[in-house]
Amino acid sequence: MARIDLHIQKKDPMPALMKFLHIAAAIAWLGGVSFMLFALRPAAGQLAPPMRLPLIAQVLRRFFALVWPSIAILLLTGLAMLLRVGMKNAPIGWHLMLGIGLVMFLLFGHLYFGPFRRLKLAVAASDWPEGRRRVGQIATLATVNLVLGAMAIAAVIFLV
Ligand code: HEM
Repeated sequence: MARIDLHIQKKDPMPALMKFLHIAAAIAWLGGVSFMLFALRPAAGQLAPPMRLPLIAQVLRRFFALVWPSIAILLLTGLAMLLRVGMKNAPIGWHLMLGIGLVMFLLFGHLYFGPFRRLKLAVAASDWPEGRRRVGQIATLATVNLVLGAMAIAAVIFLV
């Protein structure tokens, strides 16, 4: 079986390249979310709000600049892999990944144009209670996306 797979890859490297880019984008996105939630946020909790909230807003601004291209790559490479096989022939796990992935993209869009935009406004106005509330909302949405991401990966691995 492994030999057959290797043979197919040698003949047509495109699916392997698509999968490589797809997984790299997923790592960049979910790895960044894990870092934010489990390392940056608790560590920054020791700083006073006038230092903490501008720092978090800056870090998020840079990280989200990486998330947008990751989403584009996930969508394009994911659809390329899916359509190559055909929606009708694709296993249930692949359909689930498409559905869960689309929900994740929408949630990120909401996070970016809702709470994140308001966090930047709060920081500019030195409104620390509002900024704190927005960081809390961003963390909640990011946690949901992390869980959804894990579910999407589980679906494509276990439900084939
Ligand atoms: C809506 C867009 C998406 C579509 C259409 C899609 C489609 C696919 C397909 C068809 C595969 C199977 C490739 C194969 O086994 O040959 C796959 C694998 C994978 N996808 Fe997605 N995906 C999407 C979104 C996501 C998201 C949002 C994540 C996580 C952040 C993700 C992470 C992965 C990973 C890690 C694999 C590799 C699993 C393995 O080793 O078999 N995908 N995707």
